[in-house]
Amino acid sequence: MTKRTVTLIEGDGIGPEISEAVVKIFEAVGAPIVWERAEAGLAAIERTGNGVPPETLESIKRNGIAIKGPTTTPVGGGHKSVNVTIRKTLELYANVRLSRSMPAVETRFNNVDIFVVRENVEDTYAGIEHWQTPNVAQCLKLITRQGSESVIRYAFDQARTLGRKRVTCVHKANIHKITDGLFLDVFREVAADYPDLQSDDIIVDNCCMQLATRPDQFDVLVLPNLYGDIVSDLCAGIVGGLGVAPGGNIGKNCAVFEAVHGSAPDIAGKGIANPTAMLLSGVQMLQYMGLIEHANAIQQALAETLASGVRTRDLRGTASTMEFAEAICSRLTPIEAEATGVAQGATTPVPVQLSNNTEEWTLVGADVFVEHAHGLPPMPEQVGPFTLRLMSNRGTKVWPGPTPDILIIDHHRCRYVADGEVTRKDVLHLLSDITARGIVWCQVEMLNKVDGEARYSKAQGE
Ligand code: NAI
Repeated sequence: MTKRTVTLIEGDGIGPEISEAVVKIFEAVGAPIVWERAEAGLAAIERTGNGVPPETLESIKRNGIAIKGPTTTPVGGGHKSVNVTIRKTLELYANVRLSRSMPAVETRFNNVDIFVVRENVEDTYAGIEHWQTPNVAQCLKLITRQGSESVIRYAFDQARTLGRKRVTCVHKANIHKITDGLFLDVFREVAADYPDLQSDDIIVDNCCMQLATRPDQFDVLVLPNLYGDIVSDLCAGIVGGLGVAPGGNIGKNCAVFEAVHGSAPDIAGKGIANPTAMLLSGVQMLQYMGLIEHANAIQQALAETLASGVRTRDLRGTASTMEFAEAICSRLTPIEAEATGVAQGATTPVPVQLSNNTEEWTLVGADVFVEHAHGLPPMPEQVGPFTLRLMSNRGTKVWPGPTPDILIIDHHRCRYVADGEVTRKDVLHLLSDITARGIVWCQVEMLNKVDGEARYSKAQGE
C-alpha cells in the first residue's frame, strides 16, 4: 500500500504527549502515513532564534500536509507567533473547524455537527490600519472576488466529500452591501455549480442567535474572516469549549492541522492532557487526504471510549493521556485503504474559475476625507468639473441642510461629483485647490460607475 509522508510538529508543553497519543491511534487504525518530524516553537527559538526554522517550512511544503501540536509564544522579546508565521508564509486561505457533540462532554445540546469554513487571509485581517486624524482610526476591510471564490469553492467541495447536505453563507450584506455583498454574490455563483447541495445564506447576528438556540439546524457554514473567527469559537463553545476543538488551515499548496487549544504549561509533562482536540484535528486531516473510512473509525472509537467512562481529568475522568489513547486503540482494527484526496505535494483542488472582470469603469468623482475640528470644514462648493454633493461625519449627512444634533468629530467625508467622466488629473486639481485653501485632507477614494451604476456606497441621506 502506498504511504503518504506527513510533517509532524509536536510543539511545546503538552504537545509531545498528545502527539504521541495521536501517532499511536493512527497506527492502530492502519493509517497509511509515514511521519516526518519537524521542529517549531520554544526549542526552535532556543536553538536557532527562529520559532519556525526554514527546514520546517520546507518539510511542510514538500509533503503538502502537516499536523501540529500547540506551540508556546514567548511573551515579549519580539517573537512572532508560530501559527501566524506558518499561516502567512504558506498562504493558508481557509480555516476549517469541526464542531460535533461528544458523549461525556456536557453541554446544552447533544446533536451538533457543524463544519465551519472561515476565510483566513482577507477582510480586516489584511492588517491595513491607519490613524486618519488624532481622533480617528481606520481599518480597511478587503474582500476579493478571487479570495472569496477559493474559500467558498473549498467549502462546497468539502461538503460533497464529507457527504454533507447544505452549505450556508454567513454575512452582513444588509449593511456591508459592497464587501459582504461581493462575498454573497460569489457564493451564489459558486453554489450554481453544486446543484446536488442545498445552499442558503443568513445574516451573522441572526446566525449567532440561532446557534445559541437551535445549532442542530446548521451543516456547513462558510464565512469571511472576522465573522468566521468569532462564529467558529462560538461553535466550539456549544460543543464543549476549545479543549475539544480541532482545526485545520488549508492553503493552495499545503494544509496544516492543529488543535485550537494552547500548550497548557500548567499540566505539561504530567501525562494527563486530553489528546481529543489534536486527535480530531488528525481526523480532519484524514478527511482532507480522502481517508474517510479511517476518519470515521477513529470518531466512532473516540465516541465509544468517552461513553464507556474512560476520560481524562479535564472531563472529570481519571485516565492518563496514554490510558485514554489505549482505550481508543483497543476499539480499532487496521483498515486497508489508500489516500484518495489531495495528492502528495499537490495543490488543493480549488481552482478559481470566475472570469476576471473586464467591465468598463468610469471615474465620476472623489470622496475627500478632511481633518477639521470645531464644526464643518470650509469646503469649496465648485472646483473645476466637481460639485460638492454632500459632507458626512461618521457616516451621517451633516451638509447640505440643517446639521443634525450628533457628535461631530474631526473627520469629514466630502463627496465631490461631476456630471460626466473625469480624470485623475482633475482629482489632483481638486486636491491642489483644497490644499491651497489650507484645508487638511487625509484620504481620497475614487468614485467609479459601470453602465451608470455606482461602484461605491451611497451616503446616508444622499
Ligand atoms: P491553553 O489552551 O494552553 O490552556 C488553558 C487551560 O486549558 C489550562 O488550564 C490548560 O491546562 C487547559 N488545557 C488546554 N488544553 C488542554 C488539554 N488538551 N487537556 C487538558 N487541559 C487542557 O491556553 P493558555 O494558557 O492561554 O496558553 C498557553 C500557551 O499556549 C501560550 O504560550 C499561548 O501562546 C500558546 N497557544 C498556542 C496555540 C497554538 O499553538 N495553536 C493556541 C493558543 C495558545
